[in-house]
Amino acid sequence: MSFDLAIVGLGVIGANLALNMLEHGIRPVCFDQAPCKLDRCRREGVAVAESLEAAVSRLSRPRILLLCLPAGPTVDHVIRRLRPLLEAGDVIVDAGNSHFADTMKRARELQTVGIGFVGLGLSGGASGARHGASFMAGGSSAAWRTVRPYFLAVAARAEGRPCAAWLGPDGAGHFAKMVHNGIEYALMELIAEVHAFLERLLGYGPEEAAALFGRWNEGELGSYLLEITGNILRRDDPITGRPVLEVVEDAVRHKGTGKWAAIAALELGVAAPTLIEGFAARLVSADLRGRRARGSGWPEAKVEKPDPETVAPILERALLAASIAAFTQGFDLMAAGSRRHGWKTDLARLARVWRGGCIIRARLLDRFVTALAHRPKEGGVLAAPWFAERLRGSVAELRRTVGFAARAGLPVPCLASALVWLEMMHAPRLHTALVQAQRDYFGAHGIRRTDRPGCYHIDGTRV
Ligand code: 6PG
Repeated sequence: MSFDLAIVGLGVIGANLALNMLEHGIRPVCFDQAPCKLDRCRREGVAVAESLEAAVSRLSRPRILLLCLPAGPTVDHVIRRLRPLLEAGDVIVDAGNSHFADTMKRARELQTVGIGFVGLGLSGGASGARHGASFMAGGSSAAWRTVRPYFLAVAARAEGRPCAAWLGPDGAGHFAKMVHNGIEYALMELIAEVHAFLERLLGYGPEEAAALFGRWNEGELGSYLLEITGNILRRDDPITGRPVLEVVEDAVRHKGTGKWAAIAALELGVAAPTLIEGFAARLVSADLRGRRARGSGWPEAKVEKPDPETVAPILERALLAASIAAFTQGFDLMAAGSRRHGWKTDLARLARVWRGGCIIRARLLDRFVTALAHRPKEGGVLAAPWFAERLRGSVAELRRTVGFAARAGLPVPCLASALVWLEMMHAPRLHTALVQAQRDYFGAHGIRRTDRPGCYHIDGTRV
């Protein structure tokens, strides 16, 4: 019997994708270096091969190799081993969280021998891989056409459409996944900041906060992350019986993709402060011992306790405005990556792919689909009618939230950065005229004037 494709790497994602594919009438053969993983898959009814060579030999043509491996050298190592076993027309799909620059390099190398390469961003974790994930594909369009039916079959669906799409050549898919994770970090941090406000300043207990998030989840803020936050808040620790959040340490780790998004934003000259703060907050959180050492004696802020009844709806609007900012910065980053690398990524298509299966799926993305498809040339998404109206209707609440948190000594870096970014993005004239003047004063870099074209110095002479 010949198989449709081989899955290499049977970690959480590979093993669950194999089961999902089987359920959809696709026949995968699986391989992993670890015999225990092979045994587990075999027990679940998945065909396994004892070596990479055996897996390849059992495939129908063109042969498709789906790599579900940790990002980095392992991917290069496996590709090196596969190359002599494959021929022109075969396709390798890398479904790991690879860096887009690595994907671009691998795509170039494999193209020289006619092997198709798809860098596939996959989001949704174990449950997405098992029941429907979101797939962001990059690579040659011919290679994607070869493998597309398999991923359309196992993708999540939003309004009946599979959440899987080709976003451009070589690194476009993995770049999109990196942007996804930059947004993921920011949204997680935003929800955590709002929860801290509810808990520490309004006195909400876990059940009350979960109920409030549940209500918000029914409206425009509806999202997977808000939903799971409610579930987490309701959970008790089986060891101590206390609410689980009380026993979770506050130092957050990361695997790198959110950091890559922050680096890419800076490198491409995209202002994405909320994404960067989402990552920076994790870095500060990780300095557990330092925080503890500095903590005693830090002046406590004294404010009157606000009225929960009136403040909770303000927080909802604030979170909406800040979430719009985070998503918009992510799409700006994707647009810049696409421009730099010539991917011609359709941003509305990307928003559609994120509507189901992935970690950042949210009702707001329906609005982004429309706004990105018809975004105003000047002003972008923020100037699209629905967004302009919502932001005008919620910036006051974001201002009040950040202002109150600052007075109360509650750090809300993502809410604050979203507010500052929104204020600046809507300011016809900024304080930065002075920065231009300073640059010229000490460095003779020249200024552009408001009243005439050309480059001048601040003493009125031409550059
Ligand atoms: C997803 C996630 C996933 C990511 C984890 C861990 O879309 O399914 O983004 O791919 O690897 O969330 O990320 P950190 O360890 O960096 O938080």
